[in-house]
Order: sequence, then structure tokens, then C-alpha cells
Amino acid sequence: MANFIVKGGKFLEGEIEIGGSKNAALPAMAASLLFKNNPEFRNLPKIEDIFRMGELLKKLRETKEIDFEVAKKIRASILLVGPALARFGKITFPHPGGCVIGARPIDAFLDGWKAMGAAVKEIPPDSSKSINSIPFYELSAPSGLKGRDYTFRVPSVTGTEGLMMTAVLASGSTILRNAAMEPEIAHLAYFLNKNGADIKGAGTHTINIEGSGGALLEGKYPFSAPPDRIEAGSFLILGALLAKELLIKNFAAEELTALTGALKEAGAEFNFDKNFISVKRSPALKAVNVKTKEYPGFATDLQAPFCVLATQAKGASMIHETIFEGRLSYIEYLNKMGAKITLCDPYRAIVNGPTPLRAWTLERPDIRAGLAFILAALLAEGESKIGNIYQIDRGYEAIDSRLRSIGAAIKRI
Ligand code: EPU
Repeated sequence: MANFIVKGGKFLEGEIEIGGSKNAALPAMAASLLFKNNPEFRNLPKIEDIFRMGELLKKLRETKEIDFEVAKKIRASILLVGPALARFGKITFPHPGGCVIGARPIDAFLDGWKAMGAAVKEIPPDSSKSINSIPFYELSAPSGLKGRDYTFRVPSVTGTEGLMMTAVLASGSTILRNAAMEPEIAHLAYFLNKNGADIKGAGTHTINIEGSGGALLEGKYPFSAPPDRIEAGSFLILGALLAKELLIKNFAAEELTALTGALKEAGAEFNFDKNFISVKRSPALKAVNVKTKEYPGFATDLQAPFCVLATQAKGASMIHETIFEGRLSYIEYLNKMGAKITLCDPYRAIVNGPTPLRAWTLERPDIRAGLAFILAALLAEGESKIGNIYQIDRGYEAIDSRLRSIGAAIKRI
């Protein structure tokens, strides 16, 4: 299994370009099941989750079945279920896998499909029919899916994308209320509308969809993945910590206002210009409290990188994770590196800074904690080792060579 070896303590300098968004590309790829022909995809990031989605789609087209082994690896496999149900009338799938950051239930999806007329059978993990002790689900809609007025109990991002895609092929109108507002949902609706779907309000809490009654879309207009806002935010944090001068190209500033607001408050120095941003290391960072929230609030996917920044800021920063209940487990490693972070409960941590960090062997990250480990290792004196980097490769394209190009000492072994 590959590891990263990172030698810290070097300043970074140069230009880095933001790649295509993972979380915009994954639902758009799943949406290809709604099309007569395969639409063209541009600017897809070359990352493990996108490769897995490609494998899942290939098998699904050939066999009308979801590959359980692959689906177990990525949460985004759930995005295939709605389009597959709408197209084939039935589908079986395992409880989706992915990052271990909390319980990650799928009740919002199941309730939505039931409301639209699907029969849902859950096969529990201990049943003789279950595979490898994971629950799986059998969905069928023999008399088709009908548009409904549905309110999400929690505004789930992939839940909103999943039901929106299902509603595109259902008959009649669907209203999704308390929908998530993340930009990836608006990007998906834009792509579908360009190809004949009728979706209004994506990017707001209420989405209206006129279903086609089963008529498939024509793939005339390509999907081009927008820049990844989480990668962009992570590189901005990196620059505020370690850059002599870093130019970040394709920076979608309007999608990152909660982060840039928090960084300004912390005293970080950066300047926007059209679609790029330049950032310099700020020697006198101040403590700032952040609370993760649904978009346009502070993104949970930027919480771990921001916590690394807080270790270098003067004073006590409260990091409050409100979306996932298991997303602070990386903190024990930052403390081993010399950070002074008190975990108050599974949701809140107080970071006392600034503290110098020392090199360490870092293990078991999720995608975003993995990037935070790279930031911490680049700050630390000495040579750190980061294990299980498959998790990092799931979300960031060639992160090692791109960071080397701006002067980081990071190698894959
Ligand atoms: N939730 C439920 N029931 C459901 C679905 C969600 O209770 O049926 C809860 C979750 O447990 C959580 C909250 O709702 O507490 C929000 O979860 P959401 O469903 O919005 O998360 P997701 O759709 O599974 C996406 C991203 C995540 C990102 C979250 C939050 C994709 C493929 N994944 O996950 O990205 O953290 O939204 O913004 O878009 C990542 O890229 O590393 C990643 C984890």
C-alpha cells in the first residue's frame, strides 16, 4: 500500500490550478443513465472515486446491476440508484460505503423513492441473503414513478441530487422542499436542463421538476466539471500557512465566501482577480471560531484543513462540526504532532495556538482529513509518513506532483 513521505518546514511558491469538482462530476456521471445516448464529459478529475463511478456505470449498463463490491467503497454509489430505478423499474444495491465520518443513513432517499411509488425491501445484514454482512435494498416501481411534494427531514446533498434525477423521468410534477443548496446541485440541474429536463429552483431550498414520464434525455450538451471548491479552499488555507506567494487558478470565489470570511478574520492575506487568487503566508494569524453548516455556510469538507490553520493562530479557536458526528477523529494525530487541541465532545474542539508541529506517522484519514494531514506534515519540522493514501487519491488528482511543483517535499513510496 502506498504512503506519502513529507518533509516539512519549506515555504511554497508558484502557481497551482484547481481541477474539476469531484462532487459535481459524480452526480452528473450517474445522471448519464437518464440519457438515450451517453453524454460527453469534460474536465473530469483523474481520481479514484471517479474511476469507481466509471466502473459502476459500465457494469450497470451491461447487466442492469450495481456492483456491490465497488458500491461499498464509495458513498456516491447511492447516486446511481434513483436514475437506475427510473430507467429499469427495479434495482438492488448495498448500503453505500465511503468515508467513515458518521452514521451516514439513507432514510431521506428511501422515503423519497417510497413517496414516488417505489416498493422498498430492506435485507438486513444478518440475513442469509445478505452479502458480506452489509444490509442491502431491493427497489422496484412496476407501475412507474410519480411526481410528489416531498420535504427532506435534513437537507441532504446527494439525497437532493438523487431525488431530483429520479423526478426527471417520473410522471408529473415533483416539488422537493428543504432541499440542499450546495452549488453542485445547481451545476447538475444546469446540465440536465441543457439536455431537455425541466428543473427550476436548484440551488435554493425548493426545487420544482416536471417529469418526462419515462422519456429519456438527449445527450446533446456536454457536462464540463466546474472547479472543485473544496480543493480550492484547501489550497487557500495551505497558502495562508506556507506560501511565499501562491497563485491559485480557477478559484470560484463566490462559492467560498464562508471560508474567505473566516480567513480574513484570522488575518490571512489574499487578493482576488477574476478567476484566480493570490495568497501569502500570514505570520500573525489570530484564532477564529468556525461552525460547519450547509451551503452557503462553512463547508464540513474544509473543517479539518481549517483546524490545521487554527493550530498556527494565536489564541483559542472553537471548531464546531455540525454535519457529521465522526469528523474530528484526525485530531488525536494533530495532538501527537504537538498541537494543543481539546476535544469537548464528538462535535466540538478547542484549538490553542500557535504551536510548532513535529513530524509523525499519520494513519487512517478520510479524504478531507487526509489533505489536512498533508498540510500538518508540510508545516512540521522533520519527515512525516502518511498511510492509507488511497483515501487522499479518492479526492485529489496527483496531489503529490502538484504540490511538488510549488516546492513541497512530498513523495509517494
Ligand atoms: N442524512 C440523514 N439521512 C439521509 C442522508 C443524510 O440523516 O438519508 C444526514 C447525514 O447523516 C448528515 C447530513 O444529513 O448528518 C448531511 O449529509 P448529506 O447527505 O448532505 O451528505 P452526503 O450527500 O452524503 C455530500 C458530499 C460530502 C459532504 C457532504 C456535506 C458527495 C458525493 N459527498 O455527502 O463530501 O461532506 O455532502 O456537504 O457529494 C467528501 O467529498 O469528502 C465528502 C464527504
